Amino acid sequence: MVRLKGLKFRLRAGCLKEYKNCIEDLLINETVQMMKHFRHHHQTTCFEHALNVSYYSYLICKNMGLDYVAAARGGLLHDLFLYDWRVTELERGKHAFRHPDIALENAERIFTLNEIEQDIIKKHMWPLTIIPPMYYESLIVCIVDKYCATLEIVNSSKLTPVIDKSVLF
Ligand SMILES: [Fe+2]
Ligand SMILES: [Fe+2]
Repeated sequence: MVRLKGLKFRLRAGCLKEYKNCIEDLLINETVQMMKHFRHHHQTTCFEHALNVSYYSYLICKNMGLDYVAAARGGLLHDLFLYDWRVTELERGKHAFRHPDIALENAERIFTLNEIEQDIIKKHMWPLTIIPPMYYESLIVCIVDKYCATLEIVNSSKLTPVIDKSVLF
């Protein structure tokens, strides 16, 4: 059983294996691995945050009969901006507004993304970025991102999303 505050998901046997299969090629990529070097929220690295968002978006989309593969993959790549946003001055615009486009550019340089995955990455900061998500999967990742970020900032062990990452690595 995986717990997310207010929600309970029963994992069928093989569900975690299925999740792994969705993202395996992304996980072994060295650019994706670089996210481990950047702290994102509180003590959470960019990689851990992306994995939280990916995993819970996968579970929700799977339970709702949506494209859970795109949710898992887009969720893992949504913050592939690869710099320390606390100290980095961008040439154009502020991090909060610009990083979805930077992440999408980085992701598209390495992987072939479908339209849903592109939309997930590009729109995940909505409503800060004005154009709303075009797919349910994008909206779910957008909400899960904010939820996970809040829990990571609060850093409560009670609230922190529960995923046995040892199973993944
Ligand atoms: Fe983000
Ligand atoms: Fe994020």
